[in-house]
Amino acid sequence: MNQPDTANSSVQLTGAEKREIANLQALGRDLVTQLYICIKTASFYDIQNANFKKQMRKLHELLLVAFDLEPEVSVTETDGYIFLNEQRLKIKLEGYLAFKYIQNLFRKLGVSGVRVFADTTLDELKTAFSKMVRSEAENSGAEKLNDTFYEAGIKNITFIPALTLTETRDEDNAESSRTKAKKTFFRAMNIVQQVMGGYNRQQSKNTVFFKAKRAIHGIVDEIIKNESYMLELTALRNYDQYTYKHSVNVSVFAVAMGIRLGLDKVRLAELGFAALFHDFGKTRIPIDLLNKPDNFDNTDWSKMQEHPVYGSKALSQSFPMDRHTARAMIVAFEHHKNLDGTGYPYINRTRTLNLFSRIVALCDYFDALTSGRTYRKEVLTVDQVIMQMIKQTNVKFDPYLLKVLIHIIGIYPVGSLLLLDTGELALVVRNNIDDLFRPDVKILADTVGKKEHPPVVQLTEYDRQNDKFKRNIVHLVDPEKYGIDISEYILED
Ligand SMILES: [Fe+2]
Ligand SMILES: [Fe+2]
Repeated sequence: MNQPDTANSSVQLTGAEKREIANLQALGRDLVTQLYICIKTASFYDIQNANFKKQMRKLHELLLVAFDLEPEVSVTETDGYIFLNEQRLKIKLEGYLAFKYIQNLFRKLGVSGVRVFADTTLDELKTAFSKMVRSEAENSGAEKLNDTFYEAGIKNITFIPALTLTETRDEDNAESSRTKAKKTFFRAMNIVQQVMGGYNRQQSKNTVFFKAKRAIHGIVDEIIKNESYMLELTALRNYDQYTYKHSVNVSVFAVAMGIRLGLDKVRLAELGFAALFHDFGKTRIPIDLLNKPDNFDNTDWSKMQEHPVYGSKALSQSFPMDRHTARAMIVAFEHHKNLDGTGYPYINRTRTLNLFSRIVALCDYFDALTSGRTYRKEVLTVDQVIMQMIKQTNVKFDPYLLKVLIHIIGIYPVGSLLLLDTGELALVVRNNIDDLFRPDVKILADTVGKKEHPPVVQLTEYDRQNDKFKRNIVHLVDPEKYGIDISEYILED
């Protein structure tokens, strides 16, 4: 996704907005210059040196000014430009050297930039700089650098992975991008499990919080790079770890919606984080009830309906309070409230639901109904779920947001199985934005049997001689009926 160049945008800006952008530009330039000075100073002097300390203090002060505007600050390089968060910085002659230096440094390290969170201390900055200039960090990439930082106790400064700018349909790149998407997805599932499963008691609140934020930034970056790979993973069904899997699925759908709504990266991370922990309150519901195979009676329902309030409280106790936590608390509290004020928990007044809550409510409902939880006997097909949701617009769901979700899922969601008129069985691997009725698919089996190396084909392929499409969709099929385990194909490299 290209970052918007607000300064050159044709939209008419008000005087106040222009002043704000001018201030951001000046602040961004000062920050880049100071970063450069700090790196140079750190390579000459050690951590105790007075000049080193002075330059670090100056950088810290500049960051504090930035944190007044945003809860986190990133400096990134894309296509030869430097960005402060979403704002592209214009280079002035006096800052040229610093800009070029930072640009080359990011490239040398194999990262697209650095992200600093509002809690960063002066000590963390000092350690970070002395570590960075002393490590043989050439081309080590964000993941390795972040591990080094983390081991050194630096929790609020992270490197951002380099963007894959190459065409994603290139098969070699596609393979490695898929592997990365998988890693990111399962890392997020693991952190939800740690937090919600209570396996994190040995770790401090801050450590767990840091890991969760890192996981969500990973999800946001992967979805921006290639949405299909992450959407494909939401189609995996895992009944043992339903709650954790469901949490990550909802987060993936919510971030994909946020991108279409034009949210910036900071907001996307907050949305994804809130979605990841929307069901935190389920940790306080007895496991037998969560896994109950039969229909719920009234007592069961009223117990289940307590999870939003539990969740909101548990979040405030489990994480340090910042914007991520605050937003997650609102979403946990509101995700079962309906647009018309009904739903639970009951509150004695009507209030507008938060945008993030409305987004999460949609994604939550969609994922829960399509993934067939243990207590739901029948798994509904995607079109049945969508029809149910459409019927409930204005009462339960925001109609505009529902349209956005349908656009993401498409007519045939990534990960679903199709029967084609050639007799072939095909797995949807990518939506085709130009024609939602003709996605790209992997042919898993034909009339002869399963394929050893399933080819990926586009359903838009046209047979000119006979003047018709080569393949047409007959209908969606249930993989179980055909004895096909789609996870085999989704998880392969
Ligand atoms: Fe819930
Ligand atoms: Fe949920």
